[in-house]
Amino acid sequence: MTAQHILLGITGGVAAYKSAELVRLLVKAGHTVDVAMSESATRFVTPVTFQALSGRPVYVDLWDARPDNNMAHIELTRRADCFLIAPATADVLARLAHGHCDDLITTLAAARTCPLAVAPAMNKQMWDNPPNQRNIAQLRADGVTVFGPGHGEQACGEVGDGRMLEPEQLFDLLAGLTQAKTLAGRRVLLTAGPTFEPIDPVRGITNLSSGKMGYALARACRDAGAEVTLISGPTALPRPAEVRFIAAGSALSMHAAVMEAVPHHDVFIAVAAVADYRVANASAEKLKKTPGQAPTLTLTENPDILASVAALPSAPFCVGFAAESHNLLAHAQAKRERKRVPLLVANLAQHAMGADDNEIVLLDDHGQHPLPRMDKTGAARAIVAHLAGMLPIR
Ligand code: CTP
Repeated sequence: MTAQHILLGITGGVAAYKSAELVRLLVKAGHTVDVAMSESATRFVTPVTFQALSGRPVYVDLWDARPDNNMAHIELTRRADCFLIAPATADVLARLAHGHCDDLITTLAAARTCPLAVAPAMNKQMWDNPPNQRNIAQLRADGVTVFGPGHGEQACGEVGDGRMLEPEQLFDLLAGLTQAKTLAGRRVLLTAGPTFEPIDPVRGITNLSSGKMGYALARACRDAGAEVTLISGPTALPRPAEVRFIAAGSALSMHAAVMEAVPHHDVFIAVAAVADYRVANASAEKLKKTPGQAPTLTLTENPDILASVAALPSAPFCVGFAAESHNLLAHAQAKRERKRVPLLVANLAQHAMGADDNEIVLLDDHGQHPLPRMDKTGAARAIVAHLAGMLPIR
């Protein structure tokens, strides 16, 4: 994401130690981070830690005299692009939901002009407590974004909902806070990555797709407000936060997962580099080497996932990808017509596969729309903007 000014509020939960890592990630990525802490947060981690990591003064007191006008609560939010409270305790959520302004963090929230997100962190009973659930619903209704909470082992030793999301997940989600919600209310299904076609239990045929473009698109759709399901072949990438994730191996298993999920979605984006063929005579046992006798693999055609979805009687809006090594536009145009998709994203395979940036051309009924070379996050956002403009208005 482009460099932003982020205001981070830290309230009194043991997860405050994770926010130190979040500040480090944000600063490393070039963002400016102002930290405001509640008194109880300083019992878990001292302001000195956050001052050292952010390289900026840390604010705890509503009456801090350092800002020229003595109004830390106004000064800090006016320069912020977004405000994240992480960890957000049950108590601060209750006070935010009721508009209290009795400390620096709640006053900052009330006086802000930028988007606000909270990352709840609490024991599972406190999370499920009806007043807390009412407060969360109220905050959502007031336009506050709620990140998580995650599910898992808690500091108290119990297991359940209420864990603060990991710093990497919060970092991932923060990028979307300032994005336009052009896909709000839409449900988007994507495929990404390569497929793996087994030869025997330990070997297979795959390709060089890294999954980066598909994962960037899943994030961009999520950041634009969509509910996202990502069906992915094997990749080395971290799963995008707040995206439903389904792991697939072979083209057949990806096809089955897509056909099961597709009725619940309005948009299908096929980014995966699906193997066109699989091994018909794959062995159930590991093949042993027989000197002088190389095995022969027989290939058989895989189903075309994108074409199968586009041919459904109530097909979602379909977006295809075409990675070509030559004659890009001619091949891509032919592919768009053959697969009957309203939007096709074309790129040169040798430039795109594994790379962090991409130069693409969008093809639709109105012709060709070349985009400048940019990183995959930027390209994904440009694709989402174009796609959102093509969806039927509801
Ligand atoms: N695709 C798919 N299922 C397949 C093959 C491709 O869903 N079995 C999708 C890809 O995800 C992509 C588009 O179809 O969105 C184009 O894939 P590509 O491999 O470039 O096209 P092919 O039809 O396989 O054509 P070719 O390999 O001849 O270029």
